[in-house]
Amino acid sequence: MDSNNVTVIGLQWGDEGKGKVVDAIARTSRYVARYCGGANAGHTVVVDGETFALHLIPCGILHENVLNILGNGVAFDPAVFVEELAALHCRGVRAEAENLRVSTTANVVMPWHKLQDRLSETSLGNSRIGTTARGIGPCYSDKANRSTAVRAGDLVQAETLGEKIDRIVGIRNKTFAALYGAEPMDPAAIFDEYAAYGETIAPMLGNTGQILRDGIAAGQRVLFEGGQGSMLDIDHGTFPFVTSSSVTACGVPAGTGIPPSQVGTIIGLIKAYTTRVGAGPFPTEQDNEIGDSLRERGREYGTTTGRPRRCGWFDAFATRYAADISGVNELALSLLDVLSGLDELYICTGYKCDGKTLGAFDPAVMDAVQCEYDTASGWSEDISNCRTFDDLPDAAKAYVDRIETLLERPVGLISVGPDRLQTIVHHTQVEDLK
Ligand code: IMP
Repeated sequence: MDSNNVTVIGLQWGDEGKGKVVDAIARTSRYVARYCGGANAGHTVVVDGETFALHLIPCGILHENVLNILGNGVAFDPAVFVEELAALHCRGVRAEAENLRVSTTANVVMPWHKLQDRLSETSLGNSRIGTTARGIGPCYSDKANRSTAVRAGDLVQAETLGEKIDRIVGIRNKTFAALYGAEPMDPAAIFDEYAAYGETIAPMLGNTGQILRDGIAAGQRVLFEGGQGSMLDIDHGTFPFVTSSSVTACGVPAGTGIPPSQVGTIIGLIKAYTTRVGAGPFPTEQDNEIGDSLRERGREYGTTTGRPRRCGWFDAFATRYAADISGVNELALSLLDVLSGLDELYICTGYKCDGKTLGAFDPAVMDAVQCEYDTASGWSEDISNCRTFDDLPDAAKAYVDRIETLLERPVGLISVGPDRLQTIVHHTQVEDLK
């Protein structure tokens, strides 16, 4: 079945600049839907020089005619949601039931999830994952456990919510005291806070899967906004140093309730280099002055946690794997301007393990690999004002061409700065982006 929907996903370890591309495609979409992760994401959009940093609410909220959806696959944190709503209202952005809906079956991040995330990470010491401490892993654990899960629809059922909170807090207080010597939580205070969130979100709750299926049947476009990056995927990433949801395009149907045939054109976001926050393997990492310089030029500090990001060269071997898993149709290359001023650039084209070149990418052996690099000439010009491919210096054009060859996919868009206007339309097949 043909589909005019679009899915935007990250192909690295997150922070690829998805917010800007989502914002561009949202203009011609009727729906923008999140399907994975939660407030661990941080999507930055710059509109007319004004910066919006969104964690939970889809970037489509900045567009008039978009109905924004938090799908069933999202780890829904009502505390962050209500805070984000207030911040948007303060800046005159409309965010209400008419343009923002939350799935009744999304699992809720409760205070014990955030507490567990922090306590567990602290107790792991050097083996910690380096999570965002947003309670994401514990929330999805409870989803899989079922009997200790709270779903968004529960927040508006005061009686059963109270019973659930009492029962679950009873269990968690015992386990947290035994495992970590933690102080007990007060179920009555949690109930008051979360029942109040329930009142705020009640008009926005709904069967979002049906809304999306109806919209698709009526020929309206849905844009699926990915969170994190494919190398952080719970199944296909660098486990255990991953997030706890399905962040590739494979997560879209399960996380929203649409058929797999409706995922549409899949755009894979890549940064012109690589970054990672938190622990875990990162073969092209430059823990040296090159990495420091990329961090400063690219302002590589987490939108959600403010942590400095680890920085390194572009890894074509890993991103090719990520693009293949999701069946990416075209690429969007971001932050190309950050590479200006480097004499020589390195692109990882493969890994060696025990002296042998690996035939295929395997996220399970990334700890023990050495990178094989191609080199490319750098360029000194500031490219942030380039608006067409022809405006770019030859070395920058060659770098883009090399990425297209190695990933065997066209680069549809090139971003040379945070503003909406700092975008070069290259080989995109998405009609509205041309
Ligand atoms: P969690 O999702 O908070 O459990 O964190 C698990 C891992 O995913 C950690 O390494 C985080 O730094 C990373 N992570 C989670 N969300 C993002 C994101 O939006 N961008 C980049 N890294 C992320």
